[in-house]
Amino acid sequence: MTIKTVLITGATSGIGLSLFNQYVARGDRVIACGRDANKLALLAADAYKTYQFDINNSDEIKQALQDLMQLEPLDIVILNAGDCRYIDNAKQFDGKLFADLIHTNLASLGWLLQYTMPHISKGGQLVFVSSSATILPFPRSEAYGASKAGMDYLANSLRIDLANENIKVTLVHPGFVKTPLTDKNDFNMPFLITSEQAATRIIAGVDKGKAYLHFPKRLTYLLKFLSLLPKPIWQKMITHNNPPQDKV
Ligand SMILES: NC(=O)c1ccc[n+]([C@@H]2O[C@H](COP(=O)([O-])OP(=O)(O)OC[C@H]3O[C@@H](n4cnc5c(N)ncnc54)[C@H](OP(=O)(O)O)[C@@H]3O)[C@@H](O)[C@H]2O)c1
Repeated sequence: MTIKTVLITGATSGIGLSLFNQYVARGDRVIACGRDANKLALLAADAYKTYQFDINNSDEIKQALQDLMQLEPLDIVILNAGDCRYIDNAKQFDGKLFADLIHTNLASLGWLLQYTMPHISKGGQLVFVSSSATILPFPRSEAYGASKAGMDYLANSLRIDLANENIKVTLVHPGFVKTPLTDKNDFNMPFLITSEQAATRIIAGVDKGKAYLHFPKRLTYLLKFLSLLPKPIWQKMITHNNPPQDKV
């Protein structure tokens, strides 16, 4: 297989770290991006290059990625860095949490695209790590779900505009994956998979140039089926399983 140049944001933890390890293991040139300098330093020996920046800071992104032009053209860019926090009380809506999450998970993508796009090769591929939370609305997920739904639209729209540029766009909807991000969750996560399993599925789908990936299928097909039912039915099911927030 030809050696590829792969840039991964959020390569220092969870799904991004497993993607990093698996691409490195098969001999690709991997550019690891992260916010935590110490975690990033641990990847330096295996990485083609490391870039440290906070995706919420456009100046840091610009500064860090300015020498991309001196590297091999990017074959695959995986926009994976992200955060998940919940709106614990919808009646006392936390505007700052909402704005922060939209910024981290969605607005930052504009800057990342601006500074990586000129370096993506013809025949290259952009990969967006969204969430199966956009298939059906989950409780307390107003901010996270909205940020990922925005990402879905961005990816699907870009796919149309980049087709003539010969750049593919892959949108990924993972279900629950065991990572530091979900270790904080205090609820049952059905069909939880490991970050290694998630990375294997993403890499296989990206290799095939797929436009859309979702896994594990036993969860995502269930969500897709429920989403086809009349709204009052799934609304009732979800509300039934979601206790009033002042009793949580
Ligand atoms: N885990 C799941 O069940 C699940 C399900 C669906 C979708 N996803 C999505 O998958 C992606 C990866 O999640 P994960 O579960 O692997 O989470 P994770 O283990 O918490 O890793 C998050 C990664 O994003 C980076 N990151 C977060 N905020 C950043 C910021 N402001 N600037 C720069 N880097 C930042 C972190 O960098 P540092 O470590 O350097 O701070 C870390 O590398 C996220 O977009 C998440 O929404 C996860």
